[in-house]
Amino acid sequence: MIKKGIILAGGMGTRMSPLTKAVNKQLLPIYDKPLIFYPLSILMLSKIKDILIIVNKGQLEQYKKIIPNGDNLGIKITYKEQATPKGLPDAFILGEKFIGKNNVALILGDNFFYGQNLTKMLLESSKLKNGAKVILHKVLKPEQYGVAKVNKFKKIIAIKEKPKKFISDLAITGLYFFDKMVVKYAKSLKPSKRGELEITDLLKKYQSKNNLKAEYIGRGGAWLDTGSIEDFYNTSLFVSAIENRQGFKIACIEEIAYLNKWINKDHIKKSIKFYGNCEYSNYLKKIIS
Ligand code: TTP
Repeated sequence: MIKKGIILAGGMGTRMSPLTKAVNKQLLPIYDKPLIFYPLSILMLSKIKDILIIVNKGQLEQYKKIIPNGDNLGIKITYKEQATPKGLPDAFILGEKFIGKNNVALILGDNFFYGQNLTKMLLESSKLKNGAKVILHKVLKPEQYGVAKVNKFKKIIAIKEKPKKFISDLAITGLYFFDKMVVKYAKSLKPSKRGELEITDLLKKYQSKNNLKAEYIGRGGAWLDTGSIEDFYNTSLFVSAIENRQGFKIACIEEIAYLNKWINKDHIKKSIKFYGNCEYSNYLKKIIS
């Protein structure tokens, strides 16, 4: 089982300026909690307890205010600053020491996943021993995404960034599982024309070794990229619609830790005190009553 995970939570958030001028995108609210809770919950549902969060230089203290170190969740959280956004594979260069000789999961800080068989798919994916695995989701406008063509054995046979000509409508989401070779491969990449290390180039290293696999979020599941203001609000609306109808919360990180038996009622009581008198605390009270 993969035991380590990285959340890439830096970035310029250009598309969401001026909202992101003073505050990082991942600290802005998706309905009733900061965006960072959602990718964190995905790693926790994958039973990953050792997590590195990469943030922009100068924004560390803000993050630590909301997620200090993971003690209240029964997990270990460490931070690393990224001086400038050099591209997604930079996560593995910055995370070299954290990764060591282990396999590792990567989730982009602004990706939202939800769905019925999600936990099962996550646990299955985190069994990865060698090679790499990407999570795919069918989209209506493949020309706007990085897409992958897959054979019947769930092997990826082609990858294309924003394809002008149709090759597949399966978008590569922001959740990946890699074996320990990822650090070496990331270090061998050269920046693209836009001056960044590209995740598609990293995935192509695995593909060229015939070792890039796919897993799907089925049609019962949702993947939303919260990169633009419109997407951001749509994701909030989605969360609000589900939470207010069904009465449970999406990405309540304390609830996941409690159900995973990583923490007890006393930890939750501490979190209630930490958050103060609010609707989120009322929900936590319900969990332990
Ligand atoms: P992007 O969507 O590529 O970038 P962004 O969030 O800064 O937004 P914009 O394009 O509007 O400027 O990044 C995807 C996620 O990865 C996002 O959560 C930020 C994060 N990221 C980093 O932390 N470091 C990086 O070097 C890059 C490229 C992204």
